[in-house]
Amino acid sequence: MSQDDKKPSGPDLSKGIASSDLAEGAMLSGLAGEDEVLLVRKNGRVSALAAHCTHYHGPLADGLVIGNTVRCPWHHACFDLATGEALTAPALSPLACYEVSERDGKITVGAKKEPPAPKPSGSASERVVIVGGGAAGFAAAEMLRRRGFAGSIAMLSNDDAAPVDRPNLSKDYLAGSAPEEWVPLRGDDWYAENKIDLKLKTDVAGLDAKTKELTLGDGSKVKFDKLLLATGAEPVKLDIPGADKKHVHTLRSLADSRAIIAAAKSAKRAVVIGASFIGLETAASLRARDIEVHVVAPEKRPLEKVFGPELGDFVRALHEEHGVHFHLENSVTAIADNNVTLKNGGTLEADLVVIGVGVRPRLALAEKAGLAVDKGVTVDEYLETSAPGIYAAGDIARWPDPLTGERIRVEHWVVAERQGQTAALNMLGERKPYRAVPFFWSQHYDVPINYVGHAEKWDKIEIDGDVAKRDCVLRYLKGGKVLAVASIYRDRDSLEAEATMER
Ligand SMILES: Cc1cc2nc3c(=O)[nH]c(=O)nc-3n(C[C@H](O)[C@H](O)[C@H](O)COP(=O)(O)OP(=O)(O)OC[C@H]3O[C@@H](n4cnc5c(N)ncnc54)[C@H](O)[C@@H]3O)c2cc1C
Ligand code: FES
Repeated sequence: MSQDDKKPSGPDLSKGIASSDLAEGAMLSGLAGEDEVLLVRKNGRVSALAAHCTHYHGPLADGLVIGNTVRCPWHHACFDLATGEALTAPALSPLACYEVSERDGKITVGAKKEPPAPKPSGSASERVVIVGGGAAGFAAAEMLRRRGFAGSIAMLSNDDAAPVDRPNLSKDYLAGSAPEEWVPLRGDDWYAENKIDLKLKTDVAGLDAKTKELTLGDGSKVKFDKLLLATGAEPVKLDIPGADKKHVHTLRSLADSRAIIAAAKSAKRAVVIGASFIGLETAASLRARDIEVHVVAPEKRPLEKVFGPELGDFVRALHEEHGVHFHLENSVTAIADNNVTLKNGGTLEADLVVIGVGVRPRLALAEKAGLAVDKGVTVDEYLETSAPGIYAAGDIARWPDPLTGERIRVEHWVVAERQGQTAALNMLGERKPYRAVPFFWSQHYDVPINYVGHAEKWDKIEIDGDVAKRDCVLRYLKGGKVLAVASIYRDRDSLEAEATMER
């Protein structure tokens, strides 16, 4: 988690600035009392909003104004200029809005406004049930209440922790630089205050789409009028001797991350199996804990399948600079108490092993219920499954991508949250197609990599800037069309690429 530690500065907006200092489409930040405030002029109208994103505090003045929204430079949250509402994740809370006036060639910021109360919607007797307490499930519940849904909401999760900021589990929390209180998406009180019946350690074992009934692991039944399936994905297990030993871990839940942290306290040498995003972020976090780290993976270059050779080489060099040892074009064939055996015959000492070889979507519930499933739960543009009133979102959903016309399924935090939000709006009857351009970020040490779009294959990569200098934009093209854009420290370019793809 990055925080912007710079001391607040800028003009005193409560005393006013000249109108000419804020051109059409421009942003300017300053102070109103103790608060940092962002002024934006769009279509002649001036808005005054909190200057930092409600996700991880990104500086909005470095973002982009698109239509009537401002986009955060770090992870592309989108806020309404008029109301401050966090229209799309990863930010979920609104920006504070301030009174602002423009008179006699001067713009002056006044008091903070009270946020408007949501207008009630839907019927009080309607029952929405959400299976899954992850990114998509949480964002759906939050959006339903934000839009004043008057009915009941039950969130059933077989995890033992309330929804968490999952990306942090392999990054700052695992590295020891973020405290555990940063990890929950909301405090425990929030669920009661918002009348969300969060049931943890509750496994949903069956779904009858006709009678609209779920069967829980203990045999009890739960009725619903509308259902969201958001069961996410689970780590792929390795079928090799020793994979079930106590010092061998996978990483999906808060409990998994806690277990790795506990093991890291006494570990000296770790082997990470798999040069996946989670594998490499784990490697970086273990290095921050001063553990010797070896990464074993079958590919020639880490992340080449997603990023191509240039960025793959960069990621490798970056980890090597931080002391990570790679054993590529190799694999682990057995795990013993103090070492692992490699396919090429060698062994590596290890008192901690983390397997990060990818995830598999949890489709069993949808499959057993007879919903259309094709390498993911098939949904239409409204994220509705083949059964009316049953929606799917997040890592399990396979939806029609408006950019390519093909059905895609991705495993990104922001996509899961945005799909949860869209599914919620559609449960409320909005008929809102899911059109957001896929976005993800990954963090390796102090280097964030942002990626917009979706390119499973490409025939050309155009590089603008210098990858080694950590100042670059890479465009992935197929047939002359840009399908995806990766970037390092080029946040504006990344936002502009997203806006172009949205169009
Ligand atoms: C360590 C880690 C780091 C990551 N970092 C990033 C990142 O930097 N950027 C990025 O874009 N993505 C990242 N991801 C991926 C991202 O977290 C996922 O894409 C996202 O969480 C998917 O959301 P979801 O709601 O579909 O599933 P999840 O968040 O996995 O939630 C699924 C929920 O369903 C519950 N569940 C499953 N089956 C049942 C059942 N039968 N009954 C009841 N409950 C059930 C689970 O307990 C869980 O609560 C990361 C993932 C991990 C594990
Ligand atoms: S800090 Fe703004 S979206 Fe993450």
